[in-house]
Amino acid sequence: MDKRPIGVFDSGLGGLTAVRELRRLLPGEDIVYFGDTGRVPYGTRGSTIIRQYARQDIAFLLGRGVKLILAACGTVSSTLLPEDTAGLPVPYAGVVEPTARAAAEATRTGRIGIIGTAATIRSGSYERLLHTLRPGVSTIARACPLFVPLVENGHIAPNDAVSGLVAEEYLAPLRKAGVDTLILGCTHYPLLAGVIGQAMGPGVALIDAGREAARAVKAKLAAGSLLNEAGGGVRYYVTDSTDQFAAMADRCLDGGTHGPVEHIPIERIAAPDMAPEGRAPGGAGHFAGCGRL
Ligand code: DGL
Repeated sequence: MDKRPIGVFDSGLGGLTAVRELRRLLPGEDIVYFGDTGRVPYGTRGSTIIRQYARQDIAFLLGRGVKLILAACGTVSSTLLPEDTAGLPVPYAGVVEPTARAAAEATRTGRIGIIGTAATIRSGSYERLLHTLRPGVSTIARACPLFVPLVENGHIAPNDAVSGLVAEEYLAPLRKAGVDTLILGCTHYPLLAGVIGQAMGPGVALIDAGREAARAVKAKLAAGSLLNEAGGGVRYYVTDSTDQFAAMADRCLDGGTHGPVEHIPIERIAAPDMAPEGRAPGGAGHFAGCGRL
């Protein structure tokens, strides 16, 4: 048993789709959630900035004493390089692998659609893995950059007219391609599952990156004898308004946030990465010496 919390981060609300599932699967775990709401979106940026932000987010979570880090973000999971996570003192998990695996298992026809942020689609991360996991599948990928701001601004109701219009525009080519499985490759997108499901029509399996990542975390914790049954609290840290986040998080998590939301100034997040690039002895690199914030 390991009573340290699980660390989860995203650019904003999207990672809550992983929190939602983690709380269902592992109700005894404490969770520290970091949402970089002051710098959302990540998915429209270049890989250098995304990696820089992600390293800072990870350093923040390490400073909270977490036992595992989940990048609950398709963009970060698709952009971080092995060298960014190799020196971490705790296990690291992303969303791409478990989500691609679930899609490869779900498809009957072998036609899989992938939607994600511009950075995720540009990286080709899901497609590469799908073709390895299930050679012969055909994939069609599309970036849906307006979905993230729609979610962050609360347009998540299944009958939301604005989201519906945007979904129709983005998803028509995937519907026409006849996919039977659609990867919601950005963790924000499951919050639009109602709208996306309507635009795709019946019979298309939607694969939720947040949910699949949470399942993978459970397996990883179990394999490392790191599970905890004695906790159950969540603490949220955000780099912009706490009120706005709390109100939206309540909607996204159905049952409510179950924990306090605290503001962290971006300057405190950015500080660890301002250290020289050099690697500290012991191989922890960017993450060496980050104490409790
Ligand atoms: N939720 C994130 C993802 O899974 C980030 C979206 C964004 O900030 O653009 O890609």
